[in-house]
Amino acid sequence: MSVAAVAAVLIAAGLSACAPNAPGKARDGGSFSPQTQKEIEQVEAEIDRMETQTLTRLAAPPTNQVQQVELLGKLLMFDKQLSVNRNEACAFCHMPDVGFTGSVSELNRTTGAYPGSVRTRFSSRKPQSHAYAALSPVLHYNPGPGDLVGGNFWDMRATGRRLGNPAAEQAEGPPTNPVEMGLPDTACAVYRASRRPYRAMFEKVWGAQAFAIAWPRNVEQVCNRPGPASAADPFPVHLSAVDRGRSNATFDQMAQSIAGFEASAEDTNFTSKFDAMLAGKVKFTAQEQAGFTLFTGKGQCNACHRDGGPGEDPLFTDFTASNIGSPANPRLPYYKENRPDARGYVANPDGPAFIDYGVGNFLSNGHLLSQPSAVDARWLKLAAANQGRVQVPTLRNVDKRPYPGFVKAYGHNGYFTSLKEIVHFYNTRDTLPRCKAHDPGEGTTCWPAPETTLNMNTSHSGNLGLSNAEEDAIVSFMATLTDGFTPTSRP
Ligand code: HEC
Ligand code: HEC
Repeated sequence: MSVAAVAAVLIAAGLSACAPNAPGKARDGGSFSPQTQKEIEQVEAEIDRMETQTLTRLAAPPTNQVQQVELLGKLLMFDKQLSVNRNEACAFCHMPDVGFTGSVSELNRTTGAYPGSVRTRFSSRKPQSHAYAALSPVLHYNPGPGDLVGGNFWDMRATGRRLGNPAAEQAEGPPTNPVEMGLPDTACAVYRASRRPYRAMFEKVWGAQAFAIAWPRNVEQVCNRPGPASAADPFPVHLSAVDRGRSNATFDQMAQSIAGFEASAEDTNFTSKFDAMLAGKVKFTAQEQAGFTLFTGKGQCNACHRDGGPGEDPLFTDFTASNIGSPANPRLPYYKENRPDARGYVANPDGPAFIDYGVGNFLSNGHLLSQPSAVDARWLKLAAANQGRVQVPTLRNVDKRPYPGFVKAYGHNGYFTSLKEIVHFYNTRDTLPRCKAHDPGEGTTCWPAPETTLNMNTSHSGNLGLSNAEEDAIVSFMATLTDGFTPTSRP
């Protein structure tokens, strides 16, 4: 089927990617600067383009079932219909051209966080890259070093212990997260998926029962209302017990498909200059080599961002959690989300006093969080040692950007907006004086206080004694971790 033919089928079925505005959409619209608005529209258009292109693959689908799962996962990730206002696919916050994180430069520069399907709601964190996330193990405790290891999300709360797969459990979070895709019930994601062109492929892979669900007559109306659902009616799509079980199982399979795409070679592919160098196909420049030596030596980056070891892939994370003392990011709109929005929802009751305690907060308040994994109270005793810690992110693709001036945000709250800045921070956190945010010297001659000093790492960070040139060399080494390298594409 050609792209145009797919579009024609979609429109005939009333399923155009540019669906008519859902009721109440006006109330949910954000107000962005013209530049931000323009970039958001470009990303949305790119998502439509990639979705349409991917849909053409349904005409001649792969025969291999694993590839079928990966294809389904990709279609789900680029599907705006899985968000309440039909405007936000997963990919909105995870685009390939930036290594599967946020590809709106102006948001990265200003807010750090991204708006949800209800555009006035922002989350408290920067979108992580989902490349390599599918390789994170099921969350477990290693009593030797006293580390929790694995899971997905900055706070590891997608543990993977129910489905045996953190990435799959992660994918069950955004659809009903009120500040992300905003559906009021997971059954809405299943219902919306049942109306999409990939339905037949889904049934082929996962079975004909997947969407054999008796939907209540008001399902459209219920699913057009942004969540969260009320405490009095937590599952507003009213289904029989058997249909609820089926919907839950199908939702799990949607999530497993997404995890399949995340683990696929399109997403997690080990094709950086670093990989080519390891394979002996290319040599590092002198500066890159110096940076690599510092990364594993004087800079001590390797203590957490592991570059491999016996039997270990170089993933540039060890999937443990640390507090490196990042300052809070005062630009996060989340701090101001302490008043009911147009729909009466308060995202952040703590307002400006909010502190992100990361893994510790998940362990102590898991039952209160918008989180997809089963809560395991046995880990409560580890909460104190994990307050303030967040998962070590992979450094693969940290420098992947569509053009040199494109701004990326770094750290769980997006406080840092350049690689040089974060390396300078590791180098000088404990040697430069403290200053307030917006001080003219901020980031060069002084640093704001950490968001929290609880469990802050001091053994491998804060005072590295690196020269300016050494900082630059580490930055240049990190640029070799961008996937899609071909020996001829760069000198
Ligand atoms: C509005 C922006 C937004 C949307 C939409 C969104 N995400 Fe995310 N994503 C984030 C943020 C923010 C985080 C970190 C959240 C946290 O730690 O609490 C994240 C984290 C992740 C991670 C964890 C990576 C890791 O290393 O642990 C994965 C995987 C991921 N998202 C995949 C998805 C999928 C799949 C969807 C759609 C079902 C999706 N995202 C929709 C913003 C978004
Ligand atoms: C003690 C463990 C540890 C060490 C040592 C360490 N890091 Fe990190 N790194 C982290 C953690 C944890 C984060 C997330 C920080 C946050 O969100 O506040 C992070 C974040 C980053 C990020 C942002 C990535 C992103 O996608 O947001 C970069 C870049 C980075 N580190 C580079 C380095 C470099 C370069 C070094 C050595 C100079 C280094 N790290 C040393 C644990 C560590």
